[in-house]
Amino acid sequence: MIKKCLFPAAGYGTRFLPATKAMPKEMLPILTKPLIQYGVEEAMDAGCDVMSIITGRGKRAITDHFDISYELEHQIQGSSKEKMLADIRHIIDQCTFTYTRQNEMKGLGDAIFKGKVLVGEENPFAVILADDLCVNPDGDGILTQMVKLYEKYKCCIVACMEVPKEEVHKYGVIEGNRIEEGVYMVSNMVEKPDNDKAPSNLAVIGRYVLTPDIFDVIQNTKPGKNGELQITDSLCSQAKKGMVIAYKFKGRRFDCGSVDGFVEATNYFYDLEKKKAE
Ligand code: UTP
Repeated sequence: MIKKCLFPAAGYGTRFLPATKAMPKEMLPILTKPLIQYGVEEAMDAGCDVMSIITGRGKRAITDHFDISYELEHQIQGSSKEKMLADIRHIIDQCTFTYTRQNEMKGLGDAIFKGKVLVGEENPFAVILADDLCVNPDGDGILTQMVKLYEKYKCCIVACMEVPKEEVHKYGVIEGNRIEEGVYMVSNMVEKPDNDKAPSNLAVIGRYVLTPDIFDVIQNTKPGKNGELQITDSLCSQAKKGMVIAYKFKGRRFDCGSVDGFVEATNYFYDLEKKKAE
């Protein structure tokens, strides 16, 4: 049912300057794989085969990554390095990639709205922020868990996790009633609240399943925090109508939009690879 996944990837990535001056943040590698490829693999595991990417100026490397590189592939053909391109070749064979640009960085809500031409208005779709790298080594990927939940509730789903009280100001935070283990009916959402004014310590992270009526809601949402169109504000209007579920996912999330989270993810995957090789 959910076949399309939107990847808002137009942000400047200022926390990684100067690395992101000419290179998209989403192309920063954790070991040998760019962040966005982890996201695309998670979406494929969840059953998506159309990857719709919101890009911006200076993001062409993303488009090139998800395309054949004839010269390079010809060069390494028959060598031991060929297998290093097997995963990306599989992705290119299995998926369709569509792109549009967000010309001005007006916020995540605006970036998602730009995706309307790509994902259409007929079906629900997934959203992955590639700089939130999510893993669940013991079971289903985070998006797969959310797609299963969508089948039950048929409304917008946001992934959330508990964060320390002193860190809530970095996130969209939810207020809601627990309706089953790890599942909350959201009644209110606040973008980057002051630590002492947050309604809870349940923070929204970069995984969403959205129903297409969200596009009309975004269109009627006014710019919020930092003058940006915040998806949290649009989802909050839906939540007030009982149409948003928050899901405390099983697994781990690395905030690869920050240097600390990026290093943590690198160490995690390095240890994982080392253990596999032993
Ligand atoms: P961030 O808040 O991490 O912003 O965006 P950023 O620009 O990428 O990074 P910093 O803070 O300057 O270092 C969260 C996600 O939303 C996307 C980003 O690409 C990122 O995946 N985004 C944000 C857009 O696509 N457009 C926007 O206008 C804002």
